[in-house]
Amino acid sequence: MFSYARTIALRQPLIGARSFSAVLTSVPAGPPDAIIGLTDAYNSSTAPHKVNVGVGAYRDDSGKPYVLPVVKEAEARVVEKGLNKEYAGIAGIAGFVDRSLEFAYGKSSDALKSSRVKGVQTLSGTGGLRVWGEFWKKFGGDGILLPDPSWGNHTPIFKNSGLDVGTYRYFDYKNSKLNIDGMLEDLSKASPTCVLLHACAHNPTGCDPDMGQWKAVSDVIKEAGHYTFFDCAYQGFASGDAEKDAASIRMFVDEGHDMALVQSYSKNFGLYGERVGCLSVVGSDVENAANIVSQLKICIRPNYSNPPVHGARIVEEVLSDAKLEQEFRDQCKDMSERIILMRSLLRSTLEGLGSTKSWDHITSQIGMFCFSGLSAEQVDRLKVEFDIFCTRDGRISMAGVTQSNVEHLAASIHEVTK
Ligand SMILES: Cc1ncc(COP(=O)(O)O)c(C=O)c1O
Repeated sequence: MFSYARTIALRQPLIGARSFSAVLTSVPAGPPDAIIGLTDAYNSSTAPHKVNVGVGAYRDDSGKPYVLPVVKEAEARVVEKGLNKEYAGIAGIAGFVDRSLEFAYGKSSDALKSSRVKGVQTLSGTGGLRVWGEFWKKFGGDGILLPDPSWGNHTPIFKNSGLDVGTYRYFDYKNSKLNIDGMLEDLSKASPTCVLLHACAHNPTGCDPDMGQWKAVSDVIKEAGHYTFFDCAYQGFASGDAEKDAASIRMFVDEGHDMALVQSYSKNFGLYGERVGCLSVVGSDVENAANIVSQLKICIRPNYSNPPVHGARIVEEVLSDAKLEQEFRDQCKDMSERIILMRSLLRSTLEGLGSTKSWDHITSQIGMFCFSGLSAEQVDRLKVEFDIFCTRDGRISMAGVTQSNVEHLAASIHEVTK
């Protein structure tokens, strides 16, 4: 029979301390999160010209956080309905999940019509990745392959899920472009595993395969016997067109892959703090998809029990109404166009200042980030000498660039790259 006292007694000699309070007083301080820590540093700077291009959150042209007008309208409608605050259930709001699947896979998707695609609402993209990691460890395998480089949180998410994290080549650091040959070679040589792909607007490089290259990736994944797991955090942000940005996902479905997908509504709907996401699978048949979802729910229940309702209701409201959906598409396009404009402005200002370096990649990369090629030392100089805050891998969040800070940013980059 379980005895609490006995468990304590057994553990004490192992940790070699007299009491647990003594153990906890020696807990060391953890290092600050690389990205959140940057925002803290930015907030404590008193320099009037400080610039935060670290965090991946959209800012309007005056540098302010932005709530999409369509989100405000949908939110008002949701409030107007006077709904109760009951639990949504482990898998979240069914209407939200249905709209979410249509958004990613396409309203006319055959797989969707055949009910082979099923999903659960998640705590945004991060929560969906974590649930998948745990599910994969239980039913898939011991490892996962990520692109090199990838979003900084991917590795800890999957390590905390108990997986061994490996990488495949993705970026040609020397020429600042996609290393498609390296990617295909690494995927073809790897033993069958789960392969994470960024569906669009790869974070941090801003480089995506073109459709021909996606087809080659799909072929290699099939031949090598891998399982595809798409992370889609920027649908609508890459090109300004949410349909176009889902092309990789839809092509893989058409190519017959059984696969999984995690969607985030943080960036495209600007619902960062509401934590709205969806994790779905394309199963071999209806029963298989339903079985997988039943197991995802078993991973979720002892974790956070069920997801929050408010943000998901907003997305459901927008995607269930043709007028609101069109407004969303227009407003998402406006955000993406402002970012594209800032790319050209940053590049032309650098060139105008006489920088002899090649800055082509600023405009050829897409999505929220520019993988600038700046070294960690140059990034440190930007921070110390010019009050510009970005991650030490040289990733610049283009969403934080505005008409009023672009000159200071360009002049500072020019100064540290001379
Ligand atoms: C590639 C990628 N995946 C997932 C996420 C998760 O974001 P969230 O948890 O806010 O949905 C991010 C956020 O930056 C990301 O860049």
